[in-house]
Amino acid sequence: MSTFQTLVDRIREAAEEPDPRGAVRAVLGDALEEAEALRGETPPDGPDEINLYEDDRVSIWRSRFQPDVLMPAHEHQVPVLIACYSGAEKSLLYARNGEVLQQTGTVIAKEGEIIELPEDAIHKVTAEGTRPSEALHVYFGPLTRLDRALFDPESGKTLPFTMANFEALKQSTGNAAG
Ligand SMILES: [Fe+2]
Repeated sequence: MSTFQTLVDRIREAAEEPDPRGAVRAVLGDALEEAEALRGETPPDGPDEINLYEDDRVSIWRSRFQPDVLMPAHEHQVPVLIACYSGAEKSLLYARNGEVLQQTGTVIAKEGEIIELPEDAIHKVTAEGTRPSEALHVYFGPLTRLDRALFDPESGKTLPFTMANFEALKQSTGNAAG
């Protein structure tokens, strides 16, 4: 069984625990101890984002971000744990201020680190540095079935979360990919 499949099974079990976030964080901590295996099973030329599993409790994604592309501001509506196993994943955090978005900070999940974003987080995402980031994302809800918003980078207005809008709103970071 692949390392990712074993991990999905363990995360699903952990999500049933009384403290799902604590239990899943512990599983992700174990997984990062074997980051080499995760890197070995992540094809460099495969898709950047893969949905490994989803049910009502958890959605598990493998996500690669490129240093020259900034993913558009979006919300999740559920907490998420981000466990980075290669490179570094950078989130630019935003808060709604009336009709516009205001940047409130930056958080980086470096290789070997786990960060948590709360359910009301809004972020843009990219890879910090010159190489892609690779991470496991565990969302505590059925991510693809939530009615989530994207935010226009110019006006800050909300737009429906569709793949067409997501693609159209990607920005360049100005950092060359290494
Ligand atoms: Fe996100």
